[in-house]
Amino acid sequence: MIIYFSATGNCKYAATRISQKTGDKIVSIIQLNKNTDYCIELENDESLGIVIPTYFYGLPVLVKEYLSKMTIKTDNENPYLYSVSTYGTTPGGSIEIINNILNDKGHELSSKYTLQMVDTWTVEFDLTKEENIAYFTKNTEDKLNSIIESVMERRNDDLTEKTKGKLFYTFAQFAYELDRKTSYFSVDDSCTGCGLCQRDCPVEAIEIKGGKPVWIKDKCLICFRCIHRCPAFSIEYKHKTKVNGQYTNPNVAVFD
Ligand SMILES: Cc1cc2nc3c(=O)[nH]c(=O)nc-3n(C[C@H](O)[C@H](O)[C@H](O)COP(=O)(O)O)c2cc1C
Ligand code: SF4
Ligand code: SF4
Repeated sequence: MIIYFSATGNCKYAATRISQKTGDKIVSIIQLNKNTDYCIELENDESLGIVIPTYFYGLPVLVKEYLSKMTIKTDNENPYLYSVSTYGTTPGGSIEIINNILNDKGHELSSKYTLQMVDTWTVEFDLTKEENIAYFTKNTEDKLNSIIESVMERRNDDLTEKTKGKLFYTFAQFAYELDRKTSYFSVDDSCTGCGLCQRDCPVEAIEIKGGKPVWIKDKCLICFRCIHRCPAFSIEYKHKTKVNGQYTNPNVAVFD
């Protein structure tokens, strides 16, 4: 089984590519969480892959909470567990954090992988330029093929990008908490009231009221799915993201 979290398609694409070779089914953490399904049951020699994006050098808060509650049910004393953290510029401590959560449950990652893909944090990154997309994706396919090969052979590999120290990651997670305020979002007059943002928000933070989205929770994941998937590109964050364009992984149609 492969469980994944994907706001804009990168992780879904990576999970899909791995599953096409392994034959494992892929399951969205967003759906598992909505169904309060925290028990992952593995058959016989089945492996478990966890494919997630890096947020603020760590994990999206929903992923961290889900993995903390998750239990792995298996007859295998030493199941093959691996994780892929996708990222744009630095994966930080995301894989280490997952391993720590699993360690608390008596498990250990058998293999650790990071995979550079397009950085959806459009507060900083300009995704209107083809050359920027090309920069982020220049090694994606080669690295993904190496990951797939490693998983297929059930190797114990560490194919992670090494970055800055632990203190740095801890500080970044504080910044994430501060930035999670939904008051930073705004919507302009181009909004058609189609309701897609309400339907697809992973944490039900949006409601359409008077034909426009209203953020009904104080904090959200800031996954930017609502920004990147809005058909009219009507949503903005901190008045900084509009200028940097929209992005969703071109190889993925359905996100959960
Ligand atoms: C809130 C947020 C924070 C992010 N933080 C980081 C980061 O710390 N380092 C990094 O390299 N990429 C970061 N990214 C980029 C994502 O990890 C990357 O684009 C990922 O592939 C998105 O996966 P998805 O399309 O499956 O949601 C961030 C993206 C968002 C939306
Ligand atoms: S997805 Fe965009 S156009 Fe549709 S309701 Fe939300 S903000 Fe408006
Ligand atoms: S409101 Fe937008 S950014 Fe926040 S969790 Fe929902 S989809 Fe993601």
